[in-house]
Amino acid sequence: MCGIIGYTGPLDSKRILLEGLSQLEYRGYDSAGVALCMENSRIRLIRHTGKVSNLKEGCRKIAETSHCGLGHTRWATHGGVTTENTHPHQAGRITLVHNGIIENYHQLTLDFHLEGKLQSETDSEVAAWVLESLYEGRPLEAISKFVSYLKGSYSFCMMFEDHPGEIYAIRSISPLVAAYTRSGSFVASDLTALIPYTKQYFVVPENHIVRLTSYKVHLYDLHQKETIPEMMEVSWNTDAAMKNGFPHFMLKEIHEQPEALKNTILPRMVRGLPDFTDDQIPDSILEQCSQIHIVACGTAMHAGMVARALMEPLLRIPVTVSIASEFRYEEPLIDSKTLVIVISQSGETIDTLAALRLAKSYGASTLSVVNVKGSTIARESDYVLFTHAGPEIAVASTKAYSVQLAALYMVCCRMALVRGAYGHEEAENFMKELLDAIPAMEAMIEKRDSVKALVTHLINEPDAFFIGRGLDYAFSLEGALKLKEISYIHAEAYAAGELKHGTIALITDQVPVIAIGTQKKVFAKTISNIREVKARGAFIILLVGENSPVEDGIADVIIPIPEVDDRFAVFPVVVILQLIAYYASVGKNLDVDQPRNLAKSVTVE
Ligand code: F6R
Repeated sequence: MCGIIGYTGPLDSKRILLEGLSQLEYRGYDSAGVALCMENSRIRLIRHTGKVSNLKEGCRKIAETSHCGLGHTRWATHGGVTTENTHPHQAGRITLVHNGIIENYHQLTLDFHLEGKLQSETDSEVAAWVLESLYEGRPLEAISKFVSYLKGSYSFCMMFEDHPGEIYAIRSISPLVAAYTRSGSFVASDLTALIPYTKQYFVVPENHIVRLTSYKVHLYDLHQKETIPEMMEVSWNTDAAMKNGFPHFMLKEIHEQPEALKNTILPRMVRGLPDFTDDQIPDSILEQCSQIHIVACGTAMHAGMVARALMEPLLRIPVTVSIASEFRYEEPLIDSKTLVIVISQSGETIDTLAALRLAKSYGASTLSVVNVKGSTIARESDYVLFTHAGPEIAVASTKAYSVQLAALYMVCCRMALVRGAYGHEEAENFMKELLDAIPAMEAMIEKRDSVKALVTHLINEPDAFFIGRGLDYAFSLEGALKLKEISYIHAEAYAAGELKHGTIALITDQVPVIAIGTQKKVFAKTISNIREVKARGAFIILLVGENSPVEDGIADVIIPIPEVDDRFAVFPVVVILQLIAYYASVGKNLDVDQPRNLAKSVTVE
């Protein structure tokens, strides 16, 4: 939930840390701070509430140079948004930054008699004092002991006053990557902070200690035995994490969707059919399962809802979708014949990870659909299907959702093929339709100005409703989430036929209703439901196939969607839903990429 970074090397650490924090800011933006090891080995803390820009301003006055330091951008969990609660925290000889949650911080406060010492309300400062209590001049030894006291999830970067120029780091669950480059040594919550300096990096293995000096990065296990890191190479460049002329990352990422879809689909097509040989996913797991259970959070879960509506009627096996934070505390009806599909852009969402671990403990086969290589979910799943969206920086997920869908559609097609629901020709046609959805998305992106014009009907309203039936209902869920998270308009998605069982009481004059009517099978029924809300004065924005028969007066605004096979309508439709949310947020002058209270990757419960 927070972004952390450590640097030691020949360059100005203040500049490197501040630039890195700007890249990591999407992980949390309640407050930010740096700790700089100055030339006289004194450690100087600079901490500010609010965004990294406030911290940058606060750092302007510092004239001294520093070549080693830590940085942190915070998403508040323990304790409010105050300077005292802002990282880095100091305890005696220790300075540290932390991402995660120390669940037993209260017990540690008692066990280590810390009551009078704490300056903040954070679990992180408690951890700093525990480390200080255990420190006898040997950092590796102290860190190994330290982690044996901790319960929860963490990644820490630490400096020891008597080891100037060195940075230590350790992780359990929360992510951390490290690299040694010509510009010095780096450790950070994710790659976006490192790519200006290197393409070579490694994922810090759990329960391993990293020691950075300006000449090298060392990795040790908890017995302090040095081990060799497994190096990886970044497949995207610095540009991918820049706005490149777009006013916001979200708009850029909406535009990147057609390309991201091609990158995800095309390398996995062999003679017109989906093929997962290179992903080392055997057909047997697709062929032999008796049910599918999809688990994810938020937008990723919505991709699962679409996949369910597609898969169950085609494969004729039960397909269930669970919210990961619920699933992990249930006693799910899954077994070794169940294929559990876990979906996560970041691959670090704590509830999704816990759900994956639970599924494995039941003996289920696990397949994850993940965007970030080297992430914990990817590493712990039996099989992984990587999506190729590139880095997604805007907090509201857009391109990650559409590539998750593309991957799930391919899994569905391959399953239909190996289970005999499809012959070769049907599977080839399915893949052709999937590829045809890409130009349909492009056509929708071109409609951005008309979407921009229509949001005037939304931005002054407190509520909005999204309705649809079947697959259209699954798309509506994502439309409502996008709108509420970045425009703060209360939005709800309803199965169109369900509205009259209570919610229709909220429909009054000019309440915006975004109706999705792409599914021919239920089109007439959806139109009846639209009439019901229109009769109560709703302002209707209707998304409908361009050749669908729509009578005059049924909607206030009609957005024609290119005619694709009904099952693929999500691809063009979601672009419009994303643009509605985007322009509503812009129209209300809000922070599109960093909406309030949110953070990109939710690594705490
Ligand atoms: C909404 C959004 C979130 C994420 C959710 C899961 O726009 O981005 O709902 O989809 O937090 O995150 P991942 O996919 O990283 O597991």
